[in-house]
Amino acid sequence: MMHNPLRPTSPLRLVDAPPEPSSAVPEATIRVENLSIVFDVPRGQVIAVDRVSLAVMPGEFVSLVGPSGCGKSTLLNAMAGLERPFEGEVMVAGKPMLAPRPDIGMVFQQPHLFPWKSVRRNIAHGPRALGKSRTEALRIADDLIDMIGLTKFASAYPHTLSGGMQQRVAIARALANQPRVLLMDEPFGALDAQTRAVMQDNLLELRDRINATIVFVTHDIDEAILLSDRVLIMSAGPGRILRDLSAGLPRPRSSAILTDPAYLALKRDCLDLIRTEGRKAFEQMETVT
Ligand SMILES: Nc1ncnc2c1ncn2[C@@H]1O[C@H](COP(=O)(O)OP(=O)(O)OP(=O)(O)O)[C@@H](O)[C@H]1O
Ligand SMILES: [Mg+2]
Repeated sequence: MMHNPLRPTSPLRLVDAPPEPSSAVPEATIRVENLSIVFDVPRGQVIAVDRVSLAVMPGEFVSLVGPSGCGKSTLLNAMAGLERPFEGEVMVAGKPMLAPRPDIGMVFQQPHLFPWKSVRRNIAHGPRALGKSRTEALRIADDLIDMIGLTKFASAYPHTLSGGMQQRVAIARALANQPRVLLMDEPFGALDAQTRAVMQDNLLELRDRINATIVFVTHDIDEAILLSDRVLIMSAGPGRILRDLSAGLPRPRSSAILTDPAYLALKRDCLDLIRTEGRKAFEQMETVT
């Protein structure tokens, strides 16, 4: 039977997830239905995503957590219209995702900046492409440059920045389009702990301001719980969603929550689950070999 993450059976849930959408509730911003993505490789085929169904409601912040190679990036790329379904479909704001769209922002694991443009012009590029005046686009860019703490580097070119600084520019560039959906693939993975904490706080603050729907991939369970309304835990490949844990912590949220008993309880549940599932995956591997 198809696993439906909207109907989890886990005793670990602390609060109820949003009800399954029906005609009585708002339509999901992102709806993934029975999605499978398969890659052809020299030795045959790899099932990167295996019959995944999930819904992300308007304004929700959902994190995907799982071991390396479990299909997180592939699932996120499918939401961005960068991977075609082998089976099933991905609907964003009511339309199938067959190609990237400007109302859907993506931050990749690597920054992918325009090397020939300054920081300021990299960030202003999206608003300009969407028809904003030069002055307005540069104003948006300057606000975001202040937010990411790179005011002194506004005129610098990407190759003169560190990897972490480049990634901050990539995040600002995605935010500049004021996307209704923001897809973030380990966006803080390359940052040092201090910068990462600042960026997490900035993202929380910004999220409360722009009310975008966000799907965020991370290996870091603290980061997932701190930022998210829901944490989806994926199994080792082929990619499936094992559990849908509702964070259910109060908003607006800040890093002060890291010492909150409800937060610590949720973290313990997540870690137990990841450990148990990791052990299961390991035992299955031993049985196969
Ligand atoms: N373009 C591709 N061609 C062939 N196989 C691919 C391709 N992209 C991904 N895969 C395979 O699909 C599976 C899922 O990969 P994916 O990059 O989605 O994992 P991930 O969970 O994002 O991993 P990580 O945490 O390391 O970023 C892996 O087995 C990977 O080798
Ligand atoms: Mg990945």
